[in-house]
Amino acid sequence: MKIIIISGTPGCGKTSVSKKISEKIKAEIISLNELTVSENFTLKYDKKRETHVVDLSKLIPYVENLIELYNKGNTEFLIIEGHFSDAIPEKYIDYVIILRCNPDELYKRLEKRGYKIKKIRENIQAEILGNCTNFFIQKQIKSPMYEIDTSNLTIDSIVKIIIDLTVKTINVENFLPGKIDWLEILSQNDRINEFFD
Ligand SMILES: Nc1ncnc2c1ncn2[C@@H]1O[C@H](COP(=O)(O)OP(=O)(O)OP(=O)(O)O)[C@@H](O)[C@H]1O
Ligand SMILES: [Mg+2]
Repeated sequence: MKIIIISGTPGCGKTSVSKKISEKIKAEIISLNELTVSENFTLKYDKKRETHVVDLSKLIPYVENLIELYNKGNTEFLIIEGHFSDAIPEKYIDYVIILRCNPDELYKRLEKRGYKIKKIRENIQAEILGNCTNFFIQKQIKSPMYEIDTSNLTIDSIVKIIIDLTVKTINVENFLPGKIDWLEILSQNDRINEFFD
């Protein structure tokens, strides 16, 4: 069984993309957000940040158990998606895909979701700083890791790239981490102050 981790800032499309991949290659999905809420693996609700604080000490063993169950079955591909999926122990990870999105497009997607301005800004700041990618880099993860700029891509074309990167073998050059740098683009256009105060 191959495990594909899909991470990225909220709004980058992890859930939409994962669902579509599972239709194409018959993959199972573990959605860390959904699991946290449905199994009540939360420590508290952070009102200020409008988000649940995850109890990783409960979530991770539960996920490990699920992985073992899928492994014993005839699951070929398992997708684990969530913006904190760097919490998954490396021994289970075959590929890491980080979905990225430029600040302007991310703003539109999060606004459409009804997020308040403070929450939108917080997420955009995390995206500009590349937090989700950095979490994996800090762990010095050895599994292949790729970044995809989803800003101008349809869900279908993102799905195709992920399948190409994991199931088939394409030239990975364009998807290696370090090529996406929103901070540099904003800085060139003198726009950093729009997102940081
Ligand atoms: N490539 C895309 N093009 C246009 N819209 C997109 C794209 N990807 C996602 N969206 C839209 O952005 C919104 C967020 O997508 P989705 O729920 O898949 O993100 P997510 O990464 O799973 O977020 P979260 O971490 O909060 O669960 C949805 O309304 C979705 O339709
Ligand atoms: Mg999601």
